[in-house]
Amino acid sequence: MGRSAIVLAAGLGTRMKSKRHKVLHEVCGKPMILHILDELEKLRLDQVIVVVGQQREAVAAVVGTRAEIAVQEQQLGTGHAVQAAVGKLDTHNDTTVVLYGDAPLIRAETLETLLSAREQHAASAAVLTANVQNPTGLGRVILDPEGRFVRIVEEKDATPEERAIHRINTGIYAFATADLLEALPQLRPNNAQGEYYLTDTLAFFNEKGGTVCTVDVADEREIASVNDRAQLAAVEAILRAQICERWAKEGVTIVNPEHTYIGLDVTIGRDTVLLPGTILEGRTTIGEDCVIGPNTQLTNVQVADGVTVQQSVALDCEIGPAAKVGPFAYIRPGSQIGERVKIGDFVEVKNSRIGAGTKVSHLAYVGDADVGRDVNVGCGVITVNYDGERKHRTVIGDGSFVGSNVNLIAPVEIGNGAYVCAGSTITDNVPADGFAIGRSRQVTKADYVQAWKQRKAENAGEGSRS
Ligand code: UD1
Ligand code: CA
Repeated sequence: MGRSAIVLAAGLGTRMKSKRHKVLHEVCGKPMILHILDELEKLRLDQVIVVVGQQREAVAAVVGTRAEIAVQEQQLGTGHAVQAAVGKLDTHNDTTVVLYGDAPLIRAETLETLLSAREQHAASAAVLTANVQNPTGLGRVILDPEGRFVRIVEEKDATPEERAIHRINTGIYAFATADLLEALPQLRPNNAQGEYYLTDTLAFFNEKGGTVCTVDVADEREIASVNDRAQLAAVEAILRAQICERWAKEGVTIVNPEHTYIGLDVTIGRDTVLLPGTILEGRTTIGEDCVIGPNTQLTNVQVADGVTVQQSVALDCEIGPAAKVGPFAYIRPGSQIGERVKIGDFVEVKNSRIGAGTKVSHLAYVGDADVGRDVNVGCGVITVNYDGERKHRTVIGDGSFVGSNVNLIAPVEIGNGAYVCAGSTITDNVPADGFAIGRSRQVTKADYVQAWKQRKAENAGEGSRS
């Protein structure tokens, strides 16, 4: 007993036209290679090997300690790639599953079916196949009149009759490890592409009287592979739809799933409504009875129950129960927005705690501040937190009132229940229940405009005479 996996990821993926290796491109926020490794982990295999070649350091760095790395120096074909892993392969493991790093939607259940089929039939190999509408570019599965496996022929090597076949090779196999090791050295690159085809091992088993069984994939969407950016978008769309469907079944209303983006690690409570253009990323959690969106991006945000977030962006922060955010608010890392708080339009909050029931309704910047409960932060209030070298904190006590257009020059403290007049620039602490006004006195000149207009008219008259 024992099972190994070999993941092929040596080819750069030229058609991606990218500086980045193909398997590092993300699908729903996660690099393709990690989708594969996550599924393989569910199978609790005894060994996982990733074959790298192009950009090997970058791929190996993302794989980390989750798999062994084998290097294929030159990409001479899928058979050659598997051969590159042989040195690392634990021959005590009876079954070796081979799959690709660029087909990220394959599910553990399907791989388990394939592995079991190989083991139950004591077959040399079990091949995952699919009956597809459009087989263009893929290897065709040739069966004999009794329906037994004969071989796989690549499109470039196929006759017109063979090309008419719609059953294709997905490129996913479970091999008897011993038979695989016997077949690999027999491969020769005598084909249209001059490559060592892994598929030729199957014909080899067949000729030697071994069993090769085929397993049709139940859901074709699982085998979608990525060769260019159009296919990347197609694969992303499949997974995005599946994630939305899952949350819809859990009691979340998703008004338009095609325009809703939910990351794999996100959780959402019942009776929450997601409006179009909602993007939930990273370790974001959303409570029950929330309304999120439209056009809202939440990355690593903990949102409690009953929260509304409208047309806003929030990152690495917490939003408390029944809070209302937006439209057009920006909540930055390290912020804790309390219960029933209102963060209104064009408000930016950074690294600040906002106490329960406080209102920051419009056009304010609250940075590096500790704001108490039931505070009114007026329109245009700014915490002046940066002196050009260092950041300083502002403390605003419970139940205080900060009038419109106040500058709070940090470090500064406003006591509980204090009142700061509109337009003030506050440089000194205000005690609890204190009243502060810090603005220059108004000067009013009653008849000034009339006199000025008259002077102007007289000057114009002089000008026309000369
Ligand atoms: C292969 C199969 C084909 C199947 C198709 C499914 C062969 C000969 N053909 O074709 O029957 O229908 O997959 O997608 O196997 N790779 C390496 N090193 C190499 C060559 C490839 O690591 O030297 C990796 C690539 O990075 C890629 C995967 O193997 O992830 C598949 O290679 P690719 O060239 O796309 O195989 P196909 O020609 O599409
Ligand atoms: Ca391919």
